Amino acid sequence: MQIGHAILNDRPKKIELLFPSFISVFFFFTEAAAGSYTESAHGSSTSGVMRNDTALADYSKGNCSHCHEQHGSINGTEPSPASGSVSPFAVFADNFNTGAILNTYLQSDNFCFYCHANASSLQSGGIENKDYSATFAGYSTNSPLGIFEAFNQHSYHNLFDIKDFAETSFSSTFTSESNPCVACHNPHMAKRNKANVQDPSYTVLSKPSDHGNLWGDDSTERMDSNPSYSHQSPLYYGSSTTYEPGGTSYDDGSLTPDYNAFCTDCHNTTNTIYSTTLERNLIKIDWYTLGGDGISTGDKHGRNSATVDGTTIIPYNGTIDLVLSCLDCHEPHGSPSSFLIRREVNGAVTSGDVHTAATSPSSTSTLKLLCEKCHLPNWSGIHHGPGAGDPPYDKDMTCSCHGVKPPVPIPCEQCHYHGATVSNCDKTTPAIRKTF
Ligand code: HEC
Ligand code: HEC
Ligand code: HEC
Ligand code: HEC
Ligand code: HEC
Ligand code: HEC
Ligand code: HEC
Repeated sequence: MQIGHAILNDRPKKIELLFPSFISVFFFFTEAAAGSYTESAHGSSTSGVMRNDTALADYSKGNCSHCHEQHGSINGTEPSPASGSVSPFAVFADNFNTGAILNTYLQSDNFCFYCHANASSLQSGGIENKDYSATFAGYSTNSPLGIFEAFNQHSYHNLFDIKDFAETSFSSTFTSESNPCVACHNPHMAKRNKANVQDPSYTVLSKPSDHGNLWGDDSTERMDSNPSYSHQSPLYYGSSTTYEPGGTSYDDGSLTPDYNAFCTDCHNTTNTIYSTTLERNLIKIDWYTLGGDGISTGDKHGRNSATVDGTTIIPYNGTIDLVLSCLDCHEPHGSPSSFLIRREVNGAVTSGDVHTAATSPSSTSTLKLLCEKCHLPNWSGIHHGPGAGDPPYDKDMTCSCHGVKPPVPIPCEQCHYHGATVSNCDKTTPAIRKTF
């Protein structure tokens, strides 16, 4: 509190000029949250917000005014609000330009991009933010170096759709003028996990349904704390003895926020989520339903258990009934591959971009590049035997699935995607198999 007020008071004249509708919430905010603000990445007096602008030189590092300005401008050289009037929440530029429906984004499309970009950041000294594969798994080669660059890759979390979805689903904290990044981050609380990769109390996340708190900072919010599941952390890049995050010797997810609970705040069994990029509603993700016979709706990579598994490699080693984390396979912001698939998975790099499409698989699909990071790449043996696991199909390939002889490969995503089940070609039991 005290520290918070010291920061707020270092230029009182300017602060009091903040326009009236903002000022009431402003003081409410300082009472409630000054402590967590000064401990946040933005509020830090050593590494917090500091804009590169002579008009702001008198405001100390971490001061609110590096983001909030009276009338949207303190006569500096910074961008003016595109609307010509004060930007919502009195931030120095418009929160989100709703004209930005698809990437490629410009910095002026999102307030946060003005600082969180590798090229031309307004933050004094710049900011480097790499992707998840680099920060937590240690694979830095070819990582985007800023959040702006991360969202401008082949696949990405479409910011227009996020805003649209959050506005209706989380309307108590997310308004029509809110910033889409704020659906997943609270700019007044987010910490610097990248500087403390093995310590999730420095989490950057807030669940959209619990915007006023951090997610992952408490020990009850980690991958190991859900009593109904067992998580195996993936290997750290290039290692066979250390794990994510950051090359630790712990492999039970105790240092990893429960990303499943985080992502399923939106991607659950009930929410209908439209994707402008994919031009369809997304598959609903059922990560938690138990199967028993292995053929119910729940994904086997989630709480549901593999039927027989002899094909997973180190560190999974054929163990069944493990629950993976969404971020074992996905990036949160964007990726050169389809569907936000990571560049590095389980200690190894995908040897090319993973291209796949749930609705129209093509012969150029490369989904197996992902699967082989955790499963033995004996695709013929896995499906037709002889091989580990429980081969579902006839060894002689007498069914007509592959068409002609020699057999033409079938794109993996015809049968493997979230929620997928396939009817059995040859064997009678089980008649239906759950294939994800
Ligand atoms: C005035 C510049 C500025 C703006 C605008 C800004 N940030 Fe930041 N942000 C920073 C700085 C500086 C850090 C600390 C950088 C570091 O750790 O190297 C930071 C850190 C963060 C972190 C913690 C992870 C990290 O990089 O250490 C998150 C999350 C974050 N910002 C999200 C946002 C979001 C979301 C927005 C928009 C609502 C935003 N920021 C707008 C300057 C800014
Ligand atoms: C769908 C949720 C979601 C959205 C939307 C989102 N992020 Fe993130 N963000 C994440 C997750 C998950 C992480 C990685 C989690 C972790 O660090 O534990 C992350 C990490 C970050 C980091 C830290 C990166 C580092 O260096 O470690 C920053 C900074 C950040 N996000 C900024 C932004 C900005 C700016 C936007 C909007 C342009 C945005 N995020 C949109 C979920 C999201
Ligand atoms: C990194 C930039 C940044 C900094 C620094 C920052 N804010 Fe904010 N603030 C935002 C953004 C962005 C929003 C709008 C949130 C949204 O889009 O829903 C916001 C919203 C607010 C709101 C409206 C209610 C809410 O929480 O959404 C208040 C009040 C506020 N800020 C006060 C402050 C105060 C006081 C400080 C300093 C102690 C501060 N802010 C520092 C970016 C920042
Ligand atoms: C084993 C790796 C893996 C894990 C773990 C994983 N995913 Fe996926 N996810 C994929 C693949 C592969 C695709 C693309 C499949 C395809 O071609 O449709 C995908 C696609 C998606 C899609 C797009 C669905 C659509 O409509 O096409 C969403 C949303 C998604 N995942 C969310 C999640 C969430 C949320 C979690 C955690 C609860 C998660 N994923 C865990 C591999 C994974
Ligand atoms: C990050 C590691 C990882 C990746 C990547 C991965 N898997 Fe798995 N997979 C596992 C683990 C671990 C299990 C066992 C889960 C359990 O028993 O709960 C499993 C189980 C399965 C099963 C269930 C097998 C059975 O006998 O019921 C199928 C099918 C499967 N994976 C297919 C795939 C496909 C297809 C891909 C690529 C799109 C893929 N997996 C990518 C780790 C992974
Ligand atoms: C605030 C709600 C929200 C949260 C939280 C969220 N998502 Fe999404 N996600 C969306 C929306 C909206 C879309 C549709 C827009 C799009 O396709 O980019 C989407 C799309 C996706 C897609 C498909 C992207 C594509 O176009 O290929 C994947 C994969 C995905 N999300 C994974 C995740 C993962 C992993 C997490 C957790 C780190 C997560 N999401 C958290 C709202 C959310
Ligand atoms: C015609 C449908 C079909 C196609 C195409 C297909 N699979 Fe499968 N796959 C299955 C079925 C059915 C299973 C058995 C699931 C079970 O055990 O219940 C399976 C099992 C698997 C398993 C899990 C093995 C285990 O028991 O651990 C992996 C990994 C896998 N497939 C990868 C792939 C890859 C990679 C491709 C593309 C090269 C592919 N599949 C193409 C239907 C298919």
